[in-house]
Amino acid sequence: MVCLGNICRSPLAEGILSSKLNHENFQVDSAGTGAWHVGKSPDKRSIAVAKKYGIDISKQQARQFKIDDFENFDIIYAMDYSNYTDIIKLAPTVKAYAKVRMILNELFPDENVEVPDPYYGFEDGFEKVFQLLDESCTIISQKLQFPPDL
Ligand code: 4NP
Repeated sequence: MVCLGNICRSPLAEGILSSKLNHENFQVDSAGTGAWHVGKSPDKRSIAVAKKYGIDISKQQARQFKIDDFENFDIIYAMDYSNYTDIIKLAPTVKAYAKVRMILNELFPDENVEVPDPYYGFEDGFEKVFQLLDESCTIISQKLQFPPDL
């Protein structure tokens, strides 16, 4: 899960998807394209909205997206189009490039809808972000755990 700062949206996406998956089979992580907040806890407004829905993201620590993430993860979800273009610019191979997706395309296929950046907004922005990510992560978790028969 990748956003800009790794303190608002992607920590929520990590916490939400992680809460829907079996940890023996799936690893979920998050990162930011920028390095400003490396080492910091998630924004207190993200921590609060996650807590409201029974998810603890308070122990996450921000880190920057790195090239190794293309190797270490099967799917890389970008929160907005700017994150998406920043990540694909770093992709070393076609296979790596193909791993990168817009997270809300799971909910609104092919529309490239963005998760709005709530950093400079009000509290209800975090609620909206939570609901969008929760709906998308429900679809993602179902696809990952119950892939269609080939
Ligand atoms: P995020 O939100 O990308 O969802 O973590 C932001 C956090 C910090 C900044 C921008 C967006 N910032 O400019 O510091």
